[in-house]
Amino acid sequence: MSVGYQQLIEATIQHLEDLKAQGARFINLSPETLEGFASPLGQPSGGTADVSGRPQAVSPPTQSAPRSSPVAEASASSAPAPLNREAKETAMAGLRARAMVCQKCPQLAASRKNVVFGVGDIHSPLMFVGEAPGADEDERGEPFVGKAGQLLTKIVQTMGFTRDTVYIANILKCRPDTPGQAVGNRKPTAGEMKTCLPYLLAQLDIIQPKVIVALGATAVEGLLGETGGITRLRGHWREFRGVPVMPTYHPAYLLRNEALSEKRKVWEDMLQVLQLLGRPVGEKQRNYFLKA
Ligand code: URA
Repeated sequence: MSVGYQQLIEATIQHLEDLKAQGARFINLSPETLEGFASPLGQPSGGTADVSGRPQAVSPPTQSAPRSSPVAEASASSAPAPLNREAKETAMAGLRARAMVCQKCPQLAASRKNVVFGVGDIHSPLMFVGEAPGADEDERGEPFVGKAGQLLTKIVQTMGFTRDTVYIANILKCRPDTPGQAVGNRKPTAGEMKTCLPYLLAQLDIIQPKVIVALGATAVEGLLGETGGITRLRGHWREFRGVPVMPTYHPAYLLRNEALSEKRKVWEDMLQVLQLLGRPVGEKQRNYFLKA
């Protein structure tokens, strides 16, 4: 038995024991999840291996019926029992250990320097989901540390949080490979996103955030299966397995388009997030990026 598979089994048993300790007596498993168990997670398989259900529902101000992504549909089954702090930390440590040795996308595993699992507070009510690590993130093993990441950090701080008080992760945990190119990024393929999504779903099930911010079109596509264009989608609440999702522009877009009007749009989306979280918003904060 490989080390990765052994870690999966141990983390799964631990997670199930935690759920049992919390009062859960059964969990729903989709056929895809069962299929995922048949082949070791971390090995090339194409199967899914999400062992948990939906985060707790929080009512957003508005909701439209999102079209779930194939993997999301496969694992949307039942609300998980709330986890206490210790159970969350144990489950996340097990999940991280599995992700760190993942070989499900052999070409990405071969080209990566680091698995970029996620960073921040796993007890936070607020989670940001991006696309995939770039070169800087691959180098450091941490999401959003390059130029776009520095802008995200500013947005987070302007909202009254820090990187340590929110959780930040990506749809893909490995940098999409760019053979023959020393620089540059590429969008993850649908197959890569589907293969990697169980890790994000498990992160969501452990963290159980009150709000998810989806950064950019690829994050929206990976999470919600929606490809309608981020310009149309941003600013409108969606829901993912009971959790309100606010789609907004990716910070990299704001670096490419420096117009104040675009910054204001992202800020308005963040004001909606703060409102849903019940966070106080000062007058100065409310008026950021408005023309004088
Ligand atoms: N862009 C992303 O979507 N994620 C990162 O981690 C960095 C850049």
